[in-house]
Amino acid sequence: MLVLGINGSPRPKGNSQYLMSLFMEAMKAKGNDIQVLDAIKLKINPCIGCGNCETKGICIFKDDFTNIFLPAVIKADIIVLGSPIYFYAFPALIKALIDRIQVLWSRKYRLKMDEFKDRKRKGVLLAVGATQGKDLFDGLKLTARYFFDAADIKYETALCYRGIDEKDEMKNHPILHEDIKNLIQKF
Ligand SMILES: Cc1cc2nc3c(=O)[nH]c(=O)nc-3n(C[C@H](O)[C@H](O)[C@H](O)COP(=O)(O)O)c2cc1C
Repeated sequence: MLVLGINGSPRPKGNSQYLMSLFMEAMKAKGNDIQVLDAIKLKINPCIGCGNCETKGICIFKDDFTNIFLPAVIKADIIVLGSPIYFYAFPALIKALIDRIQVLWSRKYRLKMDEFKDRKRKGVLLAVGATQGKDLFDGLKLTARYFFDAADIKYETALCYRGIDEKDEMKNHPILHEDIKNLIQKF
């Protein structure tokens, strides 16, 4: 199986990246192929809502989304969104990638294409944020749910950590390794 990680943090070697690396290493140890794409390294146009995908099933832009991101999303069996909270939402770079998935939404809901019909794909959200509020991850969870739905992926679960701010803070989390071990068993 191919496990695709999508890293939404613009901060190199930060908390999201560490969280994602633990998950990916564990999935690799189980014999899966892994691939990680960093949103910050992809050069993409934002969705402009032109509607081309709703009638033709393709995006007007030819960029890293079309050439790298979309083929990887289509090929993957498990997709992991890993991200910090920025103003209670996904950071802009990964959100721009998510918006471009409108092309898969259009193929599924407007054009009634059933391109993933024989596949059971799964998705997971890994997220961190600095504060403690009970609603902290609501925005990310909703966006992740509808991203996965557009790509015909079953949203399996989310691992979200509050009170994580400094760059290396996730590394010292007391139950992270245990959480990852439990999460891996779902796949
Ligand atoms: C632009 C910006 C906006 C942020 N907004 C929030 C926020 O709304 N709520 C919160 O709890 N943390 C917020 N944070 C803190 C980050 O979520 C936190 O530092 C996180 O650990 C960063 O993860 P990373 O190392 O993977 O980038 C923000 C950080 C930045 C840089």
